Amino acid sequence: MAKVYVFDHPLIQHKLTYIRDKHTGTKEFRELVEEVATLMAFEITRDLPLEEVEIETPVSRAKAKVIAGKKLGVIPILRAGIGMVDGILKLIPAAKVGHVGLYRDPETLQPVEYYVKLPSDVEERDFIIVDPMLATGGSAVAAIEALKKRGAKSIKFMCLIAAPEGVKAVETAHPDVDIYIAALDERLNDHGYIVPGLGDAGDRLFGTK
Ligand code: PRP
Ligand code: URA
Repeated sequence: MAKVYVFDHPLIQHKLTYIRDKHTGTKEFRELVEEVATLMAFEITRDLPLEEVEIETPVSRAKAKVIAGKKLGVIPILRAGIGMVDGILKLIPAAKVGHVGLYRDPETLQPVEYYVKLPSDVEERDFIIVDPMLATGGSAVAAIEALKKRGAKSIKFMCLIAAPEGVKAVETAHPDVDIYIAALDERLNDHGYIVPGLGDAGDRLFGTK
């Protein structure tokens, strides 16, 4: 069964409050989303394996630890997931970045796939799929499927705000995928928007409407 982690670190919660606030403009929204993505990346990489190396400090020889050459891939779901990528790359600069393009049909709320480009060595990489919003879960489930269909074996899903409906959909469809969120909200409204949520993540990030 998938594990669900809610990152309740005070810095994450503080910044998320300003991300939610409708008075926060595009520039600040973008900066905050990136910052929260960095903080979440710090938590999500907690289980990276380490290996021992020998180094020389100015004082003596020493055994010390480095990350054991894990191959990581970050996959934003277009569009809004793009806002989280640079924040993650600040901590994991060597990660490869793929893209999954999906939009939610406004009538049916079903995801429509329009673009997929992944790193070539899909089977060997650990992937983190990122998207600010997990609402009905349709986009997340489809993005995970798109990766699995191309051979991905190890996938985590990370988002800022989730609705219980979205968490359930991912858990049911992909019990092997752990979910990392900054806040679990109350519910979806009749238009499939998360309540209280933050509104339309893509529009707020890119200033479109
Ligand atoms: C938003 C969001 C997710 C999706 C979540 O994208 O960024 O991808 O909705 O909703 P779901 O869980 O019900 O599928 P949107 O479809 O608005 O596309 P955009 O990022 O291109 O604006
Ligand atoms: N997509 C968004 O951008 N916001 C929501 O609340 C739900 C889906």
